[in-house]
Amino acid sequence: MVSSAGTLAELEALKVQCLGRNGELTGLLKLLKDFPIEERRLLGQAGNALKNELTAMFDAKGETFAASALADELNKISADLTLAPYPFPQGRLHPLTIASRRMSAILSSMGFAHASGPQVEDEFHNFTALNTPEYHPARDSHDTLYVKTAPGAQKWLMRTHTSPMQIRYMEANKPPLRVHALGRVFRNDSMDASHSPVFHQIEGLYVDKNVSMADLKATLAQFMSALFGGRVEVRLRPSFFAFVEPGVEVDVRCPFCNGKGCSVCKYTCWIELLGAGTVHHSVLRAGGIDPEQWSGFAFGMGVERIAMLMYGITDIRLFYENDIRVLSQFPQ
Ligand code: DAH
Repeated sequence: MVSSAGTLAELEALKVQCLGRNGELTGLLKLLKDFPIEERRLLGQAGNALKNELTAMFDAKGETFAASALADELNKISADLTLAPYPFPQGRLHPLTIASRRMSAILSSMGFAHASGPQVEDEFHNFTALNTPEYHPARDSHDTLYVKTAPGAQKWLMRTHTSPMQIRYMEANKPPLRVHALGRVFRNDSMDASHSPVFHQIEGLYVDKNVSMADLKATLAQFMSALFGGRVEVRLRPSFFAFVEPGVEVDVRCPFCNGKGCSVCKYTCWIELLGAGTVHHSVLRAGGIDPEQWSGFAFGMGVERIAMLMYGITDIRLFYENDIRVLSQFPQ
């Protein structure tokens, strides 16, 4: 009987007809008072059980009508009800974008033009022109990701640093030069708290007459001071990079502890930040510049490393996991 109702209105009418004040079952139950007490009790129990069962059936059927009516209503609405409610969550810049834009803006303000180069490089620009000879271990596939090509064809690789931009810029421009480049670099490394096979670097190149290590040091000191705020002391330590002579590693006086020692600088009060040096004569020559007339300095640093210091992050993987709880914490 209940299942014969095709609409909510029909169901309601049936319910009244059966269970309403003048309904059929109600009428039968009213007759009970004329029965002897024993029979009245038995018939009463059966009658009430039937009434409860019918009520439950009517309610259940009523709910299916309500659900399909709601579904019909929703189908009429064209809005996407799975969208987040107002106020809408706002997109933000990734911390690596914030850090690299800031560094790039500082270098631009110091007169370093902006350049970019390809991520898939040839061996000449990534190695040979940068004075890294054919059998140098850095060319090994342990460190470098080579693109698969046919045997005997021109070799391609994922650039292992942003330094090839030095060569490309020298090839395309006449000195004096003052330029920086920013981009993604690739290494055959596995991922851990401080390494990633893909990361970012910023590279700087300065070529002019009589450029010295003093110019390099003053430029980097000014850059670091602008980046970390206040006057940041810079220290150069001799080091080897094939494309500079002399080459240095550059430390900054820990901007976090004022010489007291802290966990960021591992209680040494100095933080190693980048590689730099005076551009090697053979690199200038490879870029078509006469080293008898011109000299220059270059520097390269990891964006992740600096962003980790700026934000006190100790695990590089946090940059790549896209966890909104992490990404939403960075000041825009
Ligand atoms: N290309 C180097 C690296 O990836 C960093 C570097 C060192 C860049 C010294 C330079 C430089 O320009 O002069 O480790």
